[in-house]
Amino acid sequence: MAHSYGGIFRLDGRTALVTGSSRGIGAAVARGLAEFGAKVVVHGQTPDSTRVTTEAIVEASGSCVAVHGDLAAAGAGRDLVRRAEDEAGPLDILVINASAQINGTLDTVTDEDFETQVNVNLRSTVEMLQASLPGMAERGWGRVVSIGSINQLRPKGIVSIYAATKAAQHNLVQSLARDYAPKGVLLNTLAPGLIDTDRNAGRRDADPEAWAAYVRQLNWMGRAGHVDEMVGAAIFLASEACSFMTGEAIFLSGGY
Ligand SMILES: NC(=O)c1ccc[n+]([C@@H]2O[C@H](COP(=O)([O-])OP(=O)(O)OC[C@H]3O[C@@H](n4cnc5c(N)ncnc54)[C@H](OP(=O)(O)O)[C@@H]3O)[C@@H](O)[C@H]2O)c1
Repeated sequence: MAHSYGGIFRLDGRTALVTGSSRGIGAAVARGLAEFGAKVVVHGQTPDSTRVTTEAIVEASGSCVAVHGDLAAAGAGRDLVRRAEDEAGPLDILVINASAQINGTLDTVTDEDFETQVNVNLRSTVEMLQASLPGMAERGWGRVVSIGSINQLRPKGIVSIYAATKAAQHNLVQSLARDYAPKGVLLNTLAPGLIDTDRNAGRRDADPEAWAAYVRQLNWMGRAGHVDEMVGAAIFLASEACSFMTGEAIFLSGGY
């Protein structure tokens, strides 16, 4: 064990792919991992989308490359990991953050809505894990940070399909955490509550007063979280500081 604890959060020499890091929580996590020394593979759907995050990382003297693509199609998760490794080298850290969320009561869910959420959130996760875990195990070190949601634990009808995919994603993490623990590869879930991002902008902007009232009663802190408040836990789960925790979830929800 370490005799000095100053470096346990450092990520120097590690390579991390953060899916959906063009904006929101993923962008903050990508910037945080880069600041702690990781080479970060930033991901968004288009080259335009990743520019702001990559510029911010470079400006802060961090190291990054960018990869692009929609994760909805079969094979897209595997292909993304392959391209990330072609660009940046073998992955030590995988942050599964991109997701599709289509709100609506069950009676309004179309086949297409269902497929999009299952494919982006669950199938691409399976594929990215298939593509990255064997290499991490071979090298004897790996960290997977799967971004879940408070909805995986306390779901609501308005997000039933999305919540089910998040619960499944965490269940998958638990199964694999057991298999990979002896190989030095640890998998955990970071589950946010309501965080102020583009994802909520539609509802927020449609009726700011109703939104403020909703947020005040939502959690014990009476406010939405900020993306920066997700970064510390992500760095912990991606680093050597997290060495005796696997198959678990950290909830960052403001008290729920
Ligand atoms: N915000 C919240 O309140 C909240 C609460 C609980 C959990 N979460 C979870 O936290 C994570 C990040 O959420 P966020 O609010 O930061 O998201 P966001 O601001 O909506 O950003 C979504 C990110 O995912 C990418 N993305 C979207 N659809 C994609 C697709 N089909 N293929 C590939 N990439 C895609 C986007 O890329 P482009 O920029 O190129 O479109 C973007 O980088 C998600 O897993 C979400 O479920 C969020």
